Amino acid sequence: MRIFRHDVVDSTNERAFAALDAGDARHGDVHVARAQSAGRGRLGRAWHSPPGEGLYLSAILMPPAPPPPSPALTIAAGLAVLDAVRHTARALGLGSDFAPRLKWPNDVLVGDAKLAGILVETRGLDAERPCYVVGIGLNVAQRSFPEDLSNERAVTSLALAGIETTVDRSCEVVSEALLARTASFGEDDLAALDRDYARAAQLDGGTVRIEAKGVLAGELVGLSIRGGLIVRDSKGNEHRTPLELVRAIVPVV
Ligand code: BTN
Repeated sequence: MRIFRHDVVDSTNERAFAALDAGDARHGDVHVARAQSAGRGRLGRAWHSPPGEGLYLSAILMPPAPPPPSPALTIAAGLAVLDAVRHTARALGLGSDFAPRLKWPNDVLVGDAKLAGILVETRGLDAERPCYVVGIGLNVAQRSFPEDLSNERAVTSLALAGIETTVDRSCEVVSEALLARTASFGEDDLAALDRDYARAAQLDGGTVRIEAKGVLAGELVGLSIRGGLIVRDSKGNEHRTPLELVRAIVPVV
């Protein structure tokens, strides 16, 4: 693993793509910056990236062909960040009352507040030589957030959750967890991702509302990378939605 440290960049994902364009990128390369001037989030949102407070990291992943089934990488990246956060909390002796979780597809939450977000991007995916940039934003040292951000949604940081660590240490732990979770995508690995994701996202049945092409509510029957999301409606009919079409999974209480 090579770590390339930048000061202020537009977006670490852009730096990773620039390295790929220059032809000198390797699997596992990590680009990390002290701040981003144009940090990108999912769905065209911005990612607030003040200097030294958060981890802004983009990893270049080149798994062997054929490409892993969509969206295995998205799910693996979410689990990797969760692994890293749990590992850090355990190392500091935090008890089981600290229970971070995932929200579809891979937001890392503490309670209902967002701790980390992930943006997986490809440009002209070549099935013979798959290549992805996995961008991870983890709130590490923030004690407060700009009002416009916290008005939009609940946000938190490791520091606010009682986890005192550094951005550099978080970079190491997250990079290692990401490489471990994406080392291979055989059938056993996919089954482990399905199992760990269902637990991490607390999707163990119950009534859910699915937002995909339309909106569907029903009992959650199953969620898997290969099989998609299966929901049973009130008439007992089962509906399968491929995961790449699922925009939101909302528990109905
Ligand atoms: C989200 O919307 O939840 C995804 C946020 C991803 C932010 C990270 S920060 C490092 C990398 N560079 C970017 O421009 N975005 C990702």
